[in-house]
Amino acid sequence: MTWDAIILGAGGAGLLAAATAGQAGARVLLLDHADKAGKKILISGGGRCNFTNTGCEASCFLSENPHFAKSALSRYTQWDFLALIESYGIAWHEKTLGQLFCDGSARQVVAMLLEECAKGKVDVRLSTQISEIAHHDGLFHVAGERGRNLVIATGGPSIPKMGATGIAYDIARQFGVPVVTPRPALVPLTLGETDRYFKDISGVAVPAIASVEGAQFEEAALFTHRGLSGPSILQISSYWSPGQPIWLNLLPDAHAVLKEAKAQMPKAHMKAALAEHVPKRLAEALHNLLGITKELANVPDAALEAAANRLTHLQFHPTGTEGYAKAEVTAGGIDTGALSSKTMEVKAVPGLFAIGEAIDVTGWLGGYNFQWAWSSAVAAGTEI
Ligand code: FDA
Repeated sequence: MTWDAIILGAGGAGLLAAATAGQAGARVLLLDHADKAGKKILISGGGRCNFTNTGCEASCFLSENPHFAKSALSRYTQWDFLALIESYGIAWHEKTLGQLFCDGSARQVVAMLLEECAKGKVDVRLSTQISEIAHHDGLFHVAGERGRNLVIATGGPSIPKMGATGIAYDIARQFGVPVVTPRPALVPLTLGETDRYFKDISGVAVPAIASVEGAQFEEAALFTHRGLSGPSILQISSYWSPGQPIWLNLLPDAHAVLKEAKAQMPKAHMKAALAEHVPKRLAEALHNLLGITKELANVPDAALEAAANRLTHLQFHPTGTEGYAKAEVTAGGIDTGALSSKTMEVKAVPGLFAIGEAIDVTGWLGGYNFQWAWSSAVAAGTEI
């Protein structure tokens, strides 16, 4: 038999695309090499799946073409996905910054998507290897099956130990579709000798304003034994390029804090003044970095000003990232210039589609990446 669509990858994007097409009457085959569907959904959001964000809009995504995501995001919105969640009676809550999570378990989201696939009579085949893909007589041939349409929904190579691969890029290149160089994103950064003062404070977390050229996020930062992590760092990692510095503002009101400390506790040292506002171990690291050893009363105002400036623009020199092994997503991917923003179809290869993380659209931390999976899936699933 000839399938109307063969969808490669039973992650969030593949499942919803299959369900959408199937429920519209298409005969759909969904293939995955994993033994379970939606494995990344299951581990997402600490097992509770941060399935969307109420503030989702195209400006929250990185892409060589920042306008590409607009069409799909506006036609299947966060509210549409939330309505689906509610129609299954899945209880949810907003955690922070518009991030919506299941009250119960991410398993409910996978069960919902599989139920949607069942409603669309989708044939879901797991533990199936995808080797060669052939294209002739207007049909796509894969894993001994043939279909009129082929949807690449195999994600990116982040977290290879869960079965993630870069097969999407191989398939794209096979069909002459360019690929924007993939890179780990939403990933911890590593520090080297230049930032040695922070080497021994692994586990310290603080609210911070993290910035890199072109982006700034205000959320927690975490010092790790290899460098920096935490939401604000993961966010700026997507914008970071090797060789660039990053900045942390660990004490936005440092000027007032130090001035007041000099007046109120003149006999104290910098460490004690800082420890009133940041964790003790961090205060000590900052004290060593600033190198001000005198009692505050004996520190000239200009030196305190300079110290405050440094605390609000603390420069770090990341040596790299923790790589795909720790990256929540992959930035870059199938070049959106080759795709229709309305349908996700490859313009030069009718019947070939690409959706989800496989393509060069990468969201911020906080439910944006799943929303892209849902929106791009519905765009393609509706077209098939
Ligand atoms: P996804 O990677 O989910 O699915 C691809 C599918 O293709 C997989 O089932 C895989 O097995 C299959 N596949 C890959 N290679 C194959 C091959 N060679 N042959 C056959 N099948 C193959 N996002 C968010 O919005 N909120 C959150 O809470 C989180 N949390 C989170 C936690 C962690 C630990 C990670 C790693 C990631 C997140 N994310 C997230 C990101 C989110 O999981 C991700 O963006 C989406 O799962 C992407 O969905 P896709 O369907 O595009 O790819």
